[in-house]
Amino acid sequence: MNRLRLTILGSTGSIGRQAIDVASRYPDRVEVVALAASTSVERFAEQARVTGAPYLVLADPEAAARAASLIGRPVHAGPEAVAALAGDGGADIVLNALVGAAGLRASASALASGARLALANKESLVVGGELVTSLGLDRIVPVDSEHSAIYQSLLGEPAECVSRLWLTASGGPFRGRRPGELADVTVEEALAHPRWTMGPKITIDSATLMNKGLEVIEAHHLFGVDYDRIKVVVHPQSCVHSMVEYVDGSVKAHLGVTDMRIPIQYALSAPDRWVSPVEPVDFATLGRLDFEEPDFDTFPCLGLALEAGRIGGTMPAALNAANEVAVAAFLGGSIPLTAIPSTIEQVLGAHEVHVPGSIEEVEAVDEWARREARRILGIGEVA
Ligand SMILES: NC(=O)c1ccc[n+]([C@@H]2O[C@H](COP(=O)([O-])OP(=O)(O)OC[C@H]3O[C@@H](n4cnc5c(N)ncnc54)[C@H](OP(=O)(O)O)[C@@H]3O)[C@@H](O)[C@H]2O)c1
Repeated sequence: MNRLRLTILGSTGSIGRQAIDVASRYPDRVEVVALAASTSVERFAEQARVTGAPYLVLADPEAAARAASLIGRPVHAGPEAVAALAGDGGADIVLNALVGAAGLRASASALASGARLALANKESLVVGGELVTSLGLDRIVPVDSEHSAIYQSLLGEPAECVSRLWLTASGGPFRGRRPGELADVTVEEALAHPRWTMGPKITIDSATLMNKGLEVIEAHHLFGVDYDRIKVVVHPQSCVHSMVEYVDGSVKAHLGVTDMRIPIQYALSAPDRWVSPVEPVDFATLGRLDFEEPDFDTFPCLGLALEAGRIGGTMPAALNAANEVAVAAFLGGSIPLTAIPSTIEQVLGAHEVHVPGSIEEVEAVDEWARREARRILGIGEVA
């Protein structure tokens, strides 16, 4: 059997490390042909040694030089090299686990090369939308657990029989708080996600529910379902990863433990399934499954994202860029959590939306929205 040639972008991050763990369990099925990350030199050097990947890239030039001397092999440098690797690494599958809009070029390059795109970097679909999907929607396999759940629940079903998609949300660390109770929360509290261990940016997005808003936009593009038919429901146990409701009233739900190695592995094995080392769900001891409406007043980021998605065009790119700047500022300790939605709202209010004709146009909006967010927050370059 030919081994699957896999490129991992964002290899040193939470998803990237778990992808290497999955690949290492199947050396007879998966060959890691390329790794890309940004600044984590020692971890990257170790991954290069363990995987033996021939193509190596670090976005940060100084980190690339240090890594090359540690590894004893060339490490290409710069953001352009990351995008080029996505399109030219000789991979069958490119796992895009970069964080933020920095992943847009890589998603586009991977699809343009004819490779399958295992997509963790939801931001590239949020900001690129149809520009990305037009390059090969049928070759995108989602890694986000919710979208993997929906993808699997849709298999073999006619599109016209889908009534609604139900995206589940854990509710994050501040579930149950009331409006006005988030002004003083600390970075540590916001990073303490009750169910998932993830990178810092997505963990803060989960605390504000922006993550769920970005996921609704991602689901709209991946599954071609109108915003009115994509529902968000808070499910604190995070056991039901998402659901598809059909016109006959049937609902297919995907359940499992909270371990990202399952959807990462499925993105590689689909439509096949490989044995996984994770603990199965024990229904006898599971107890209860709760579902509740999201609280749009306490978590205004969710409503802002849904509004930006409905408006479409360049609005989601402006939303995403403003969010990235504000989240980085919160993580850096310079603004309160509540300044994230207020900044985004102002940036969206100032944005003149249009339908972008190219990735370059989207990137121009991204840059504008970052500048605008920094001006509103009165800060320098943090994201
Ligand atoms: N973590 C999860 O469980 C999870 C679940 C669902 C979806 N996702 C999505 O998956 C993506 C990755 O999330 P994560 O939690 O894995 O993030 P993370 O832990 O912060 O890792 C991000 C990775 O991207 C690299 N990186 C960042 N900026 C880069 C750039 N400009 N060029 C090249 N590499 C860059 C980092 O490199 P260095 O560390 O070397 O700087 C790191 O390897 C996000 O879009 C997130 O929303 C994550």
